[in-house]
Amino acid sequence: MDESPLIIRAYRDTDLPHLRRITVESFGSVALEQILEHKFGIWGGRDWKARKADHIDDDVAACPEGCFVAERGDEILGYITMRIDRTNLRGRIPNMAVVESARGLGLGRRLIQHALDFMRDEGLKLAQIETMASNAIGQHLYPSCGFEEVGRQVHYAMRL
Ligand SMILES: CC(C)(COP(=O)(O)OP(=O)(O)OC[C@H]1O[C@@H](n2cnc3c(N)ncnc32)[C@H](O)[C@@H]1OP(=O)(O)O)[C@@H](O)C(=O)NCCC(=O)NCCS
Repeated sequence: MDESPLIIRAYRDTDLPHLRRITVESFGSVALEQILEHKFGIWGGRDWKARKADHIDDDVAACPEGCFVAERGDEILGYITMRIDRTNLRGRIPNMAVVESARGLGLGRRLIQHALDFMRDEGLKLAQIETMASNAIGQHLYPSCGFEEVGRQVHYAMRL
């Protein structure tokens, strides 16, 4: 087993292919994109993995300074992304993932705490995160990190 310390560091451009891979390996049934594919099949020649991985491109393009990577040695074990709304002093965590082999060891919690510290240092006053109803881990982890449930959203879609 790698004895190197686990560090959380700022995102670098060279991380992007790794974050895309971790995303498609991690999200599976908890991704809205996959649920859409189960219901409507593939459209436009792009599957749920391609669309979900694109979310990470969007995150790092919109807010590269709010993206952090958990690394042991030279292996990336997880990441967290943020969007920062400086006008309304609010931050949001759109995506996070931990590789399956490193789950259940507190890394997800560490990434969230890191993101919350970053938001506080930026002077933000409110943090938001959301999860699908099918994501049992998110519904356990986020309240246990201090988030309170404030509302539920229903997703609709139709074929065109
Ligand atoms: C969500 C995710 C990032 C958590 O990473 P992690 O490193 O395993 O997180 P932690 O170890 O810090 O905490 C996981 C918690 O969930 C709990 N848990 C694990 N399986 C669970 C289940 N089926 N139901 C409820 N809670 C569960 C663990 O016991 C732990 O809680 P505890 O610290 O109180 O014991 C990881 O599961 C993941 O990548 N999932 C797929 C992608 C995803 O769902 N991303 C978030 C949506 S944006």
